[in-house]
Amino acid sequence: MQRSVGYIIMFATLICVVCAVLVSSAAVGLKDRQVENQALDKQLNILRASGLALPTEQLSREEIQSRFATVKAVVVELQTGNVVEDAPIDVATFSVQKAAGSPDLGYVAPDNNAGISRLSKYQVVYQVLGEDGGVQMVVIPIKGYGLWSTLYGFLALDRDTTTIRGITYYQHGETPGLGGEVDNPLWKSMWTGRKAYDENWAPAITVIKGQAGPASSDPYRVDGLSGATITSRGVSNMMEFWLGENGLGPYLKAFREGQKG
Ligand SMILES: Cc1cc2nc3c(=O)[nH]c(=O)nc-3n(C[C@H](O)[C@H](O)[C@H](O)COP(=O)(O)O)c2cc1C
Repeated sequence: MQRSVGYIIMFATLICVVCAVLVSSAAVGLKDRQVENQALDKQLNILRASGLALPTEQLSREEIQSRFATVKAVVVELQTGNVVEDAPIDVATFSVQKAAGSPDLGYVAPDNNAGISRLSKYQVVYQVLGEDGGVQMVVIPIKGYGLWSTLYGFLALDRDTTTIRGITYYQHGETPGLGGEVDNPLWKSMWTGRKAYDENWAPAITVIKGQAGPASSDPYRVDGLSGATITSRGVSNMMEFWLGENGLGPYLKAFREGQKG
């Protein structure tokens, strides 16, 4: 049976409208689930950085939430290093990317080597509490440019604010097998026990080209990612930034001095 051109156009339009409604309803309907899953993934990365979860351990939603019970989120005002109680953000769903891009919550970053153009006024820092309720570790957010992408992750520091307990990246677009080796558990394990700051409290940890010695005798250097010198340099640059005075250096200093007092 021959159909008219008008019929075919009407039919195609109807199919398009039905599909568009289906796809957009699915996107809207799943939005909450996506936000929840992103928050869980971030929590899992914080657990992995701090050693509360093994690097390749897969945890259920309930296990992540149960282990995360000993982790306290605090909001830090980046430019002062002060902990703030009344920041206009929801720590559970906070996205540092969205905040940096927003006119109210973001600002233009000072000159830096980490390729960071905008920063969020507020950063969420995670304190891992011991059985006595005291802070055992501080997990700070890190971000910076590699070769192809901005890498987002966490650096876990001992409560002395210099001994590194672990590192994880939860988002990046570096090449698998090259810059993407930032996700390799073996490489990440090389960070543990090294020192973020030198004896004068200047950021010191750096990813070198080639191999570093053991943490006990070569505390400020980590093995380079082979074939990925640019990503490796990006990791060093972001360490310098986030441990430094325009990053979370002021917060870490205040925390350290508060522990002594
Ligand atoms: C397809 C392709 C993907 C690459 N991906 C990365 C990468 O993710 N990170 C990186 O630092 N270098 C990457 N490189 C290599 C860089 O272009 C550059 O050669 C390298 O960083 C130099 O490191 P090397 O001195 O260790 O060889 C890639 C190269 C190619 C051809």
